[in-house]
Order: sequence, then structure tokens, then C-alpha cells
Amino acid sequence: MKYAIISDIHGNIEALTAVIKHAKSKGVKKFFCLGDIVGYGANPSECIQKILEIKAICIAGNHDHAAIGLTDISFFNLHAKTAAMWTSEMLSEDEINFLKDLPLVIRHDELTLVHSALDEPVKWHYILNDSDAAKNIELLETMICFIGHSHIPCMFQEQYNSRALFDFLDHLTISQKSIINVGSVGQPRDGDPRSSYVIYDDSSKTVYFERVEYDIEKAQQKILKAGLPTILANRLLIGK
Ligand SMILES: [Fe+2]
Repeated sequence: MKYAIISDIHGNIEALTAVIKHAKSKGVKKFFCLGDIVGYGANPSECIQKILEIKAICIAGNHDHAAIGLTDISFFNLHAKTAAMWTSEMLSEDEINFLKDLPLVIRHDELTLVHSALDEPVKWHYILNDSDAAKNIELLETMICFIGHSHIPCMFQEQYNSRALFDFLDHLTISQKSIINVGSVGQPRDGDPRSSYVIYDDSSKTVYFERVEYDIEKAQQKILKAGLPTILANRLLIGK
């Protein structure tokens, strides 16, 4: 069965819609969402509704918690803080309850899903280097852990303990413990503005790294029209 693992949608419905369409065209039957459905983008409610519509198995991200007052936003930069406060005003009671009930970690067969890291998931640590990854691989009880949070797709493995650059890699068959960052659907930060996500085929244990074009201009216009910080619109075009 083919699964799509998506993360860091950040209220970007244009990107989310394009990714879902792309994944379905590749034969994906089930979606996992690694959190940060909301925050930054202009369509938080629409993104939650879309996630419900596709029946994605979902966990919470720090921006989901920020929008409903479950995490301290004093550490956020000004733009993130502004967006979190704006987002909190946009959500219905049902949407707030949906975000509130999301778990921090899920295990599904040979997969572990967490937004940030396995060590203290509620503290939203980043896995950015070999040392962060080694600590988390020690805690990993399954073959694969999918993460998001940094918005930069990359991979760490137990024996080949180094970050893989996806310029040279579009798919990989997994045979050792691996932590895979699926990148961001709605606000990529690796210099490629296309949406990033992963397809996992559990019959061949293969991970496919996907990039999808979407209507960036439309998403930018909505951010500006909503009165959100201009930088949040500008960065979509450069993927940074
Ligand atoms: Fe995020």
C-alpha cells in the first residue's frame, strides 16, 4: 500500500490541494500528516477541513499548539507570533478541539510519526545534525521515523549517519533505522519553492521524495489580503 506523508502545510490550501492531487495520481491510498496544519498561511480552516476530508492520520505540530494556546509563543519570531495570533482568531470551536486532541507521536506498523523529535516531543527540538539524529535513533523502536518541523527534507540513518542531499536522490529502499524529514507542503525552506512530501510503499519498503508545483501567486495574494506579514508571502516564491 502506498502512503503519503505530508507535513508543515501552514494554512496553504493551494499547496495542500496540489499535493493531494499529485499523491492520488501516484496511487496513494492513505495520508499521514505530521502537523503544523496551520500558522503562516491564509487558509487555516480550509486546510483542517481538507485534512479531515482525506481522513489523514494526524499528529500535532508546534504551530497547531501555538494557535490554540497550548505552547509558549514568546520564543516565536515576530512574524510567526503575528501569524499565530491571527490564526487563533480564524478557527472555529470544532477546529480548535480537533487541533487540541491531536497526539504528539503515533506508531503505525513499522512507522513512527512525530513532528519534531522523539526526545521530549512537546519541547519541539529540531533534528538538524548527526548528533541530534543519533539520540533519536536510539529511541526509535521502528525501522522508520518520519518527521517535519525544519521544513527541509533530509534523512539520517543508523549506519550511514549523515544527511542525504535530495539533489542526488529521488527514492530509497529502507533497510536500516532511518529518520526521514519529509519537508514542507506549504512553506518549503530548502531553496526549492515547490511543495515537498514523501510517498512510502510498504510492500517494497521504498520511500519516494516528491516535489509538486502549485499556485504560489494565489497563496501569496491571500496572505497579503489577510494583512499577514509581507515576508510570509515573499518567502513562498524563493522557498526560504
Ligand atoms: Fe512548521
